[in-house]
Amino acid sequence: KEHLPNVNGFVRSEPGGFFMMDEYARHAEKVYRFQPRNDDVWVVTFPKCGTTWTQELVWMIMNDCDKVRGKAPLLIRSPFLEFPYMLPPGTMPAELTKMMVTLEKVEEMPSPRIIKSHLPFYLLHPKLLDTCKVVYVARNPKDVIVSFFHHHQLMEIHGFSGDVETFAQYFMDDELMFSPFFPHILDAWSKRHHPNMVFLFYEDLKKDLRGEIEKVAKFLDKSLSEEQLTDLREHLRFDNFAKNESVNMEAAKQFGGIKMDGHFIRKGKTGDWKNHFGPEMNKRIDEWIDKNLSGTDLKFVTEL
Ligand code: A3P
Repeated sequence: KEHLPNVNGFVRSEPGGFFMMDEYARHAEKVYRFQPRNDDVWVVTFPKCGTTWTQELVWMIMNDCDKVRGKAPLLIRSPFLEFPYMLPPGTMPAELTKMMVTLEKVEEMPSPRIIKSHLPFYLLHPKLLDTCKVVYVARNPKDVIVSFFHHHQLMEIHGFSGDVETFAQYFMDDELMFSPFFPHILDAWSKRHHPNMVFLFYEDLKKDLRGEIEKVAKFLDKSLSEEQLTDLREHLRFDNFAKNESVNMEAAKQFGGIKMDGHFIRKGKTGDWKNHFGPEMNKRIDEWIDKNLSGTDLKFVTEL
């Protein structure tokens, strides 16, 4: 691939199937069999849908809004299940490898564990939803494409050299890691009424953060005081979140591989796609969305 030199290390599970680094493929079975616990909470998302935001929200609710313990890096407090198997051994900076929370370490973590995964349900333990609570977050695909594009520029390992419209085409052709997008979202959407599942939208978090915090707290059988609610809302507000060193990944820049002038907590807007796509590309994306949503009752909000 001209603009994605590093996709040569990727594999597809089957024609049209899941697209991921071959290191993951070598461990996929082990990840699939990773046993959830009854008191786990899993945050499952397609990348760039608001995962980090939701992980912090869930962690805080589950830990009585403990800001002191909350200073530890989110990556440690809420491990990213498949992350250790995304890069070939030896390609990650030694400092990061030391911090890596392997499956073996996740197995030893005390309850309640807050586990993040970008894998679709069909690649996670088949009894996941019958065992523990899952918070799934979706976001409109236009903003996901834009956010993922910036992520590919931020993380130098991707080596992406094309423009955003070229990237959008790769996205729609399911040629980026964690693709394809729609089966991921639609599989989760079909499970949204399961009692152990809450299905959130990034756009609702933007519109009514306080209401969504209350919704998640209720789902997790936790009650927050008025003061905690107000405080958590402030804690999660974009401006504060972007400055929060336990979640913003700025510290990881010292290890290299991350563009110095980019930010993981980047813009936090709904509708940024309007600043990226021309009318032709926008039309093509609309058609792709319509085709994939036809026959479903899932609707995305693309502007607020
Ligand atoms: P943008 O690139 O559009 O800014 P993920 O955690 O799944 O990788 O998602 C990252 C996206 O969520 C980024 O989107 C990021 O800025 C946004 N985000 C993170 N924290 C946020 C917050 N507190 N409020 C709004 N958006 C947030």
